Amino acid sequence: MADTAKLVIDQNTYEFPLVKGTENEIGIDIKTLRGVSGGVITLDPGFKNTGSCESAITFLNGEEGILRYRGYSIEELAEKADFLEVAFLLIFGELPTKEQLEKFDADIKEKAIVDEDVKKIIDAFPKNAHPMGVLSSLTSALIAFNPSSVNVDSEQEMYRAIVKILAKFPVLVAWTLRKKQGLPLNYGSKSLGYVENVLRMMFATPDEDYKINPIIKDALDKLLILHADHEQNCSTSTVRIVGSSHAGLFASLSAGISALWGPLHGGANQAVLEMLEAIRQDGGDTKKYMAKAKDKNDPFRLMGFGHRVYKNFDPRAKIIKVAADQVLNDLGIEDPILTIAKGLEQEALNDEYFVKRKLYPNVDFYSGIIYRAMGIPVEMFTVMFALGRLPGWIAQWREMRLNKEPIGRPRQIYIGKNYRPFVEINKR
Ligand code: CMC
Repeated sequence: MADTAKLVIDQNTYEFPLVKGTENEIGIDIKTLRGVSGGVITLDPGFKNTGSCESAITFLNGEEGILRYRGYSIEELAEKADFLEVAFLLIFGELPTKEQLEKFDADIKEKAIVDEDVKKIIDAFPKNAHPMGVLSSLTSALIAFNPSSVNVDSEQEMYRAIVKILAKFPVLVAWTLRKKQGLPLNYGSKSLGYVENVLRMMFATPDEDYKINPIIKDALDKLLILHADHEQNCSTSTVRIVGSSHAGLFASLSAGISALWGPLHGGANQAVLEMLEAIRQDGGDTKKYMAKAKDKNDPFRLMGFGHRVYKNFDPRAKIIKVAADQVLNDLGIEDPILTIAKGLEQEALNDEYFVKRKLYPNVDFYSGIIYRAMGIPVEMFTVMFALGRLPGWIAQWREMRLNKEPIGRPRQIYIGKNYRPFVEINKR
């Protein structure tokens, strides 16, 4: 293949280098376009054809359903690694040795205590506040309690900020839930692993010893790994663009959490369960909802179906579907919602509208069913997604800072009014 691309505008031909990734993806490097062409830009709403960076973290092939973190397949990582190992891999680029993992774990545990005054902020939220709003605010509030984490230029300062947020974020997640439930805001234990501590902080009550169910622990480990990174999606791009102004890690993460909240992104897991519940209450007629999803005059979409990048299948959804079956089986739970989900999936897979548009179940279609079996309330589902995505956001932010990427600042094509003179108020 040639190593340049040509663009012809009127009589002028401009040549741009082609960039090739390690998996043979090709990009046209148009960095000089505006300068050489006298102001021409590209227009690509939603960035469907635009690469915002070169990245060595996650490889995703939507046509073939491949997802790899730092070269390791998501299938192998979900089966053989635990969440903290995967977090280390994503952030620092290699699987940790035993010593590296122990140090990472110990450094995180060292920073797990959150300033008691944060509890006053939590107290000020109404009980019915959405947990994603609370989590985003608390993550931002952490900056005030840890001002040294803002201006991080050296790798050591970055490491300290990263360890702090990995330590305190699960505490905020758990406290967000506990506040809603009116339960004491408690801590994990240095003797437990990262995911075990998440469960303990969320579910231990003061009146009995909390025993961790290994089935639930394994399922949560797997879910967090599957959500840990997904290259330049909406929330990750948000983290990178906010971080590109050197706003600091916690501020960038807080913005990422807000981006994740939307129902077209991370909020889909809550939307899926609410949709399945609504179908169940409406008599379980999946055909009726399939018809609504296909009706262009009806805004209803089949939540948990479709993906901007996966146009074959979402490899995460495959793993989660099996895990959902296992967890419900192992816990002895019969959930009518699972039957409705499977029915919808079957119908969609055989429906021309969905097949033609390559709409397959995505990661969120089955994750909510597992969260529900674990006893996690629906409103907390997107918060669990955020907990899983945390290492990915951190890795992407760190890569952006280490690569010294310029501030993110897209252009536009202005389509508004041309110059007109100001009209005094009494003449309008
Ligand atoms: N139900 C019915 N029709 C759909 C759906 C759906 N879930 N998703 C896409 N379509 C149709 C859409 O109407 C359009 O039809 P047409 O070509 O006739 O106009 C076509 O499929 C292409 O859709 P699009 O919106 O242009 O595709 P996109 O790549 O911009 O959007 C998406 C991707 C995920 C936002 C979209 O599929 C969607 O809204 N899905 C439901 C929400 C969801 O499950 N989101 C979670 C994504 S996975 C978790 C994450 O990583 O955030």
